[in-house]
Amino acid sequence: MSSHDLLPPNPLRAVQSGPLRGTLKPPGDKSISHRAFIMALLCVGETQIEGLLEGDDVLRTGAAVAALGAKLTHLGPGNWRVQGAGLGTLKSPGETLDFGNAGTGSRLMMGVVGGHGITARFDGDASLRKRPMRRILDPLLQMGAQVLEEAPGGRCPIHLQGTPEPLPIEYHTPVASAQIKSAVLLAGLNSPGTTVVYEKEASRDHSEKMFRHFGADVTVKPHGEHGRKITLIGRPNLKPATVIVPADPSSAAFPLVAALVVPGSDVTITGMMMNPLRVGLLTTLLEMGADIQVMNPRLEGGEDVADLRVRASQLQGVDVPAARAPSMIDEYPVLAVAAAFAKGQTRMRGLQELRVKESDRLAAVAAGLAATGVDHEIIGDDLLVSGGAGTVAGGGRVETHLDHRIAMSFLIMGLASAKPVTIDDEAMIATSFPTFKSLMGALGAQFEAA
Ligand code: S3P
Repeated sequence: MSSHDLLPPNPLRAVQSGPLRGTLKPPGDKSISHRAFIMALLCVGETQIEGLLEGDDVLRTGAAVAALGAKLTHLGPGNWRVQGAGLGTLKSPGETLDFGNAGTGSRLMMGVVGGHGITARFDGDASLRKRPMRRILDPLLQMGAQVLEEAPGGRCPIHLQGTPEPLPIEYHTPVASAQIKSAVLLAGLNSPGTTVVYEKEASRDHSEKMFRHFGADVTVKPHGEHGRKITLIGRPNLKPATVIVPADPSSAAFPLVAALVVPGSDVTITGMMMNPLRVGLLTTLLEMGADIQVMNPRLEGGEDVADLRVRASQLQGVDVPAARAPSMIDEYPVLAVAAAFAKGQTRMRGLQELRVKESDRLAAVAAGLAATGVDHEIIGDDLLVSGGAGTVAGGGRVETHLDHRIAMSFLIMGLASAKPVTIDDEAMIATSFPTFKSLMGALGAQFEAA
C-alpha cells in the first residue's frame, strides 16, 4: 500500500488547444535513472549523476539503494552524488522496500538482492501488486535465491532471501524483457562465474552499457535473427563513474504526438535519446508520414542523442510489425492516439506484453478509445485503430487504472479532439513525467481541473 492508494483521485481535462509552439526538453530517461542509482550502490566511492529523472518511480529506487547502504546527496535539480556500498557488501533493509508504482525499480532491485546474502521485502501500490514477478524470481531461484513469502501468483508483497554466492547461469528470457535480463545480470554481477543471458528479440541495452561504463566485462553478440547473447564476467572491480542521463524517448513521445495531431503545431524537442532499441515510435511515426526532422545528432553520456523538429501532419495508418514491440513497448498507448487521428487503419501487432504493464494497457487503451468515440478492435494480441483523418470525437472520461502512460496519452488526445477528454486521475503522471503539465502548458496545451 502506497500513499497514493489513500489519496482522493484528481481528475483532469484536456481541451482543444491552439497550435503548440516552442521548445521542450523532456525529463531524464527513467530506465537509465533507475540503473544509475543501482550501479552507484554497487561500487565503492562516489558516483555523480546529472539529469536524473526525479519522478516518483526513480525516487523509490533511490530510497531502496539508501536502505541497502548507499548514501545519497541531492545537489540540485537532477543532480545527485551517491556514495556506494560496494558489490558484495550490501545490508538487509530494516523495513519493507515500497516501490510504489515502479515495476522496473522493484524488478531490478530483486536482481540485486537475489545476488547478495541479504533479505528484503518488496511491495508497492495496487498496480504493482498485480504485476507478475515469477518471471524475475524464476532465474533468481536458479541462481540460489529463495522466496520466503509471496502473494498468490508470484505477486508482491514478496520476501526475498538472496544468496552470497549466486550460481552463474545461462538463461533464455521467456519474453523480450529488459527487466528480466537486467535482474539476471545484476544478480550475476556478484557471481564468482560467468552469467549468460539469451534473448530472442533485443530489448533495451542500458544495463549492458552502464555495466561497462562502471568497469564490468560485458560482451554482446547477435543471437538468432533478432536476438542477442549477453555474457557477463562476475565480481568485476566496479569503479564509480559520472552518469549523464539523456532525455527519455518514452516521455518525449507525448509532446511528439501532440505536435503531430494539434493543427498548425511546430515544436522542437531537445536532447532526446536515440538509442536504436528505443526509437520504434519514431520509426513508426515516420512511416505514417509524420513531418519530423532529426537535427544535431550527437553522442552524450555514451548514448546517441538528437533534437527533433516536429510539425503537425496528416498521418496515414500503417501496419506495425510485432518485432518492433521491444523498441516501442511503452509507446503503444500514445501511438494508438496518433492512429486515431490518422487516415485509414493502423494495426499494431503482437501486444501481449501490454497486458502486464502498469495496467492491462491493451484493455485500458481499448476502453479509452471506446470512451472517446474511436473505432477500434482487438484481434488476438493485435490492436486495430480506424483513424478519423484528423477528426476525433473525444468527450469521454478515461479510466487510467494507476497508469501514467494511459493518463498522458488520452490528455494528448484531448488537445486535438472535438470535445475535451477527461482522465479520472492525474496523480500517476508524477511517476515518470512530473513536469508534464507545465512543459506541455508552455507549448500552449490547455488542461483544466475536472
Ligand atoms: C524497462 C523495460 C520495459 C519497459 C519499462 C522499463 C527497463 O519493460 O516497459 O517501462 O527499464 O528495463 P520490459 O523489459 O519488462 O518489457
